[in-house]
Amino acid sequence: MLILGIESSCDETAAALVRDGAEVLSSVVHTQIALHAPHGGVVPEIASRSHIEKIPAVVRKAVEDAGVGWDAIDAVAATYGPGLASSLLVGLHAGKGLAVALGKPFIGINHVEAHIQSAFLSPGSPAKEDCLPLLALVVSGGHSAIVRIGADGHPHILGQTLDDAAGEAFDKASKLLGLGYPGGPAIQKAASQAKNGGAGIRFPQGRISDDNPAIGNLRADLCFSFSGLKTSLRNYLQKHPVQNEDDRCEIAAAYQDAIVDALASRCERALRQGRYKGFAVGGGVSLNAALRARLKEVAVRAGVPLFLPEPKYCGDNAAMIAALAGRGAGVRGDAAFALDASPSLTFE
Ligand code: KG4
Ligand code: ZN
Repeated sequence: MLILGIESSCDETAAALVRDGAEVLSSVVHTQIALHAPHGGVVPEIASRSHIEKIPAVVRKAVEDAGVGWDAIDAVAATYGPGLASSLLVGLHAGKGLAVALGKPFIGINHVEAHIQSAFLSPGSPAKEDCLPLLALVVSGGHSAIVRIGADGHPHILGQTLDDAAGEAFDKASKLLGLGYPGGPAIQKAASQAKNGGAGIRFPQGRISDDNPAIGNLRADLCFSFSGLKTSLRNYLQKHPVQNEDDRCEIAAAYQDAIVDALASRCERALRQGRYKGFAVGGGVSLNAALRARLKEVAVRAGVPLFLPEPKYCGDNAAMIAALAGRGAGVRGDAAFALDASPSLTFE
C-alpha cells in the first residue's frame, strides 16, 4: 500500500510517499519560517497563500524523489485538522483533487495523532501497534497534549494545555528576550551558553485547579498552563532588565527548565498512573535537547521504552501523515471526500 501524504496545517508545506505505513520513500518539507520571522509568529494569510504557491512543486518533488510513477500511488491522505483553517484547506483540497484525478481513495488524517506516528518512522523502529497501550506527549507550536493510545489503537487525550502550547511559550519568551523567531531553537542555544544553568532564577509553574471549566473530562493533574509562565518572565524582566548576554542566557536556561519540568513531571505522573508498553514523543518541541534528556530519565525510571522521532520528523512533515494513513487510521470512503477543514479537531 503506497500512500501520498500531504500536510499544510500551519507553516510547512509538505508531501511524502510512504509504503505500508512504515517505509518512507520520500519526504519533502518546504518551511515558511523566513516569511513569518519578521512578524515574530505565523501570519495565517501569508501562510495559506504560500501553501497555494508551493504545494504543486512540493507534491511533484515527493513523487519524483520516491522514484515511482503516479500510477503506483494507492491512496492520497491529507491533514484535515487541527490547525489554521485557511492553511488546512489548501492541503485538504489538493489531496482530494489528486485522489479524484488518480481515481484513488482519499484519507483524512488528524495532525496530532500523526505527530505520534512520527516516533515510529525510523528504520528498525518497532510498529506502534506492538507498543500498545502507549503514552504519548505531543508538543509543538500549536499543541501540547498527553495522549493515551489504548490497546485498540484509539487515541484519548488525558491532559493538555489550557492556554498556550509549549512551542508558543518558547516563541513568546524568545520575543521578550529579543532572541527572534522561532523561539525554541533560539532559547535552547542561549540556555546552552548559560554558565550557571539558570541557577537562582525560578519561574513558577501554572497551578491548575480541579474546578477550572476548561478541564472538562481531562485530568487536572495532567494538564498544563503556560500563559502564567510567560507573564512571570515579563514581570521578571521588568524588575531585572537584561544587562548583558550572560543575563540573557541564564534567564533562557531557567525558562527552558520550567517548561521541560512541567512537561516531564506530567508525563512521569501519567506513566505512574497507568500501564504502558511504550512512551512516544512528537512535535517541534521534541527537538529540544534538554527535554529529550529529561524524558529519557523519566522513561528509564518508569521502565518503558522511549520512542523519539528523528530530528527531520519532529516538526511538521507529511511522512507522518502518509504513515498513519498506511496503518489504517483516518477518515475514509465517501466521508473523507466530504471532510471540511477542522481547526479544533480532537479525538472524541
Ligand atoms: O511541530 P512544529 O514544527 O509545528 C507545529 O505544529 O506547531 O513545531 C514548531 C514549534 C515552534 O514553536 C518552535 O519554537 C518549537 O516547535 N521548536 C522548539 C525547538 N525547535 C522547534 N522548541 C524547543 N526547542 C527546540 N529546539
Ligand atoms: Zn504539528
